[in-house]
Amino acid sequence: MGALQALAGARLRVSVIQACSGGRLAIVQLAPEHADDAARLHMLGQPGAFLTSLGADVLTVLYRTLPQSPAGFGFAAIDPTHPQQLLAFVSATTSVGALFFEMGTRRLPAFLPPLLRRFAIEPGLALRATQTVLYPFLHATPAGVAPPAELLSIMVAPELRSAGVGALLVTALLAECQRRGVAALDVTVDAANTGAQRFYVRHGFTYVDTFMLYGRAMHRYQARVAARSARVQA
Ligand SMILES: CC(C)(COP(=O)(O)OP(=O)(O)OC[C@H]1O[C@@H](n2cnc3c(N)ncnc32)[C@H](O)[C@@H]1OP(=O)(O)O)[C@@H](O)C(=O)NCCC(=O)NCCS
Repeated sequence: MGALQALAGARLRVSVIQACSGGRLAIVQLAPEHADDAARLHMLGQPGAFLTSLGADVLTVLYRTLPQSPAGFGFAAIDPTHPQQLLAFVSATTSVGALFFEMGTRRLPAFLPPLLRRFAIEPGLALRATQTVLYPFLHATPAGVAPPAELLSIMVAPELRSAGVGALLVTALLAECQRRGVAALDVTVDAANTGAQRFYVRHGFTYVDTFMLYGRAMHRYQARVAARSARVQA
C-alpha cells in the first residue's frame, strides 16, 4: 500500500479509484500524461482499424485531448510502482459531437499537422475521416431522450488480457456514468471482434443494431445505467 500512497503524491496527481491485485494494479482517472501509452495500446489492440491507420501522432493528440475535455472521461490501469506506464485504459465521451467539435476547433492546431501528414501519405484516409466526422449524425437521439454516452475504446496490454483488467475498467466506467447521471452507454464494435462482444455482453450490454462504417459491419451495443439512489446522491 506504500506504493499507492506514494502515487497519491506523485507527479501525475491521480486519485486511486481502486487498488487491486494486492496493490500491484490501480485504477485511476485517465490523464493527458497517459496519451503516448494510450496511443500505443490502441494500435496494438486495434490493428488494421481506421483510427489506428491515422497513426500514433494523431492518436496521441486524441488521448491528450479527451481527458481535458468536459465531454471526455476514462480510466487507466497502472502499476503503482510505475505510474507513468499505462497497462490498460478505457475512454468514453458524453457527446461524440462535442468532442469532435472541440478537436476541430480549439485543438485543431495540434491535430491538423499529424493528420495532414497521414493524408499526404495515404489520401484515401481523408474520405474515411469524413465518415468519422459524420458518425454522430448516424445515431441522432430522438427529441426529449437523453443521449447515451459512448465508450470509445478499451484496450488492455496483450500480455495482461483475460486476467480481469478489462472488467475492472468497464465497471469503473459504468459507475462513473451513474455518477454523471448518464442513462445509457453505447459502444460500437467491429462485427468480427467476437471476443470483445462476449466481453460487453458479460458486462450488461445488449445488441442494438448493425451499420456499415469504413466499409465494415459494425455492431452497436448498449448498457442501461441505473439511476443513483437518493441516499447515494445525498
Ligand atoms: C476486450 C478487452 C478490452 C477485454 O479486456 P480483458 O482484460 O482481456 O477482459 P477480462 O479479462 O475482464 O475478460 C476476458 C474476456 O475479454 C475478451 N477477450 C479476451 N481477449 C480478447 C482479445 N484478444 N480480443 C478481444 N476480446 C478479448 C473475451 O470475451 C474474454 O472472455 P473469454 O475468455 O470468456 O472469451 C481486451 O481483451 C482487449 O484489449 N482486446 C483488444 C482490443 C479490443 O478489441 N477492444 C474492444 C474494442 S474497442
